[in-house]
Amino acid sequence: MTTPAPGRRRLFVKTWGCQMNVYDSGRMADVLAPLGYVPVETPEGADMVILNTCHIREKASEKLFSELGRLRALKQAKEQGGERMVLAVAGCVAQAEGSEITARAPYVDIVLGPQSYHRLPEMVARASRAAGAVIETDFPAEQKFDHLPEAAAPQGTIAFLTIQEGCDKFCSFCVVPYTRGAEYSRPAAAVLAEARRLVAQGAREIALLGQNVNAWHGVAPPGAPTFESPDGRAWGLGRLLREMAGIEGLARLRYTTSHPRDFMSPGDDDLIAAHGEIPALMPFLHLPVQSGSDRMLRAMNRGHTAADYLRIADRLRAARPDLALSSDFIAGHPGETEADHQATLDLIRQIGFAQAFSFKYSARPGTPAAGAPLQVAESDKDRRLQEIQALLRDQQDAFNRSRLGLSCDVLFTGPGRHPGQVAGRSPWLQPVHAEGPASLAGQVLPCRVTAIHPNSLSVRVLARDEPVAPPAGPPGDPQQEKEAA
Ligand code: SAH
Ligand code: SF4
Ligand code: F3S
Repeated sequence: MTTPAPGRRRLFVKTWGCQMNVYDSGRMADVLAPLGYVPVETPEGADMVILNTCHIREKASEKLFSELGRLRALKQAKEQGGERMVLAVAGCVAQAEGSEITARAPYVDIVLGPQSYHRLPEMVARASRAAGAVIETDFPAEQKFDHLPEAAAPQGTIAFLTIQEGCDKFCSFCVVPYTRGAEYSRPAAAVLAEARRLVAQGAREIALLGQNVNAWHGVAPPGAPTFESPDGRAWGLGRLLREMAGIEGLARLRYTTSHPRDFMSPGDDDLIAAHGEIPALMPFLHLPVQSGSDRMLRAMNRGHTAADYLRIADRLRAARPDLALSSDFIAGHPGETEADHQATLDLIRQIGFAQAFSFKYSARPGTPAAGAPLQVAESDKDRRLQEIQALLRDQQDAFNRSRLGLSCDVLFTGPGRHPGQVAGRSPWLQPVHAEGPASLAGQVLPCRVTAIHPNSLSVRVLARDEPVAPPAGPPGDPQQEKEAA
């Protein structure tokens, strides 16, 4: 644990939700650093606590109120000692339920939505004078990224970089368009500058983040050719990835989360082509589909069919044959029948996912689906989710097994769980460990997969003169699976 020097203030940040919240939490710590706040690892004795919340499903927001109950006691204890703990609620619950938070937990000092983080220092100052809570949940005209200071704290070997925020797609079930606001892309020059800084601080892999990251269309850097596409976009994500791949010292690139619709217009061909042309772009893509039934996809307002999804998968795999896919599924959206559910299982069988997340539909206040007729019975949601998860689990196991005996590059990130081990990531984002010194961290080394565990792989670093063959082929290739067995 970090112990702040005298005169420094302790800042504890707890984060729920997506990677973009993780990234934002880092930026909130950066913006408070000039005020003397130093991150600590527990809330006990903290001078400021920020809860960075998620509103995506019911359970996610319930966690906030149970956490607030615990923090209240710590805050009171601090006050009894004549000191103050500033308690702030940030993130998507703050945005969606600001007034409910202050009503249910009047001891909260600051409520701020995701677009207001650059205003945090000023809000802390106001909170120290004000009696009630200071609330900031507007979508300010100025963009938070233009006003946040440069990222200060190094993120390590694998770094996240938010390039796009917000969503205009309004899926029937989803709160994100309401909590994060309209789609906004950061300019290419700002993204590239931040990427170079991350690499200078030791990042070897960068994951570009956005709620609809493949909708990114940024202003080209000054003086750069704009590659105008028919819809007037200056640079698309494919162009940005090509530029990023040229950053010296950067070994790996990923981007998440994509939407199928943003792979469907002609301007998006360049991004698919990029998968075949940029070796640093890792052969793993998270592409949520939610359902395999066209009827449900229409009810969800997704703007694509199951066939569209299969076509996109084919095009991506044609560009990059070893590409593995991951996805998100929702079981029991209003109106979902057994036939719709079967269509989802069929789509899963047709694609063959390397990994996936699946959720029971959770009605979110204010979204169109929450008030829709034909809500699905809880017991049906449970069973359908179990069926989806069983199939996905089998596919994940098969994918992992198909890696046995193969060679692949591993990016080592730090010490493993056991002494003498070093941990890392495969190209397909699988956690990996090898016998070796932690000093391998930061290196990308060719390895052979020697054992498969439920949630990780064992690998052996190949000797300098050892042949790399057989390299990893298409995921789940039955021939390779047979040879490896
Ligand atoms: N922007 C991404 C992901 C958004 S949220 C996309 O468009 O796919 C991450 C996942 O949470 C979603 O993909 C969806 O599967 C799930 N999710 C969102 N709202 C939900 C709800 N009301 N109930 C259950 N799952 C939900
Ligand atoms: Fe939510 Fe749909 Fe937007 Fe994804 S695309 S963030 S699921 S509204
Ligand atoms: Fe949750 Fe908001 Fe992310 S609702 S998933 S924290 S965008």
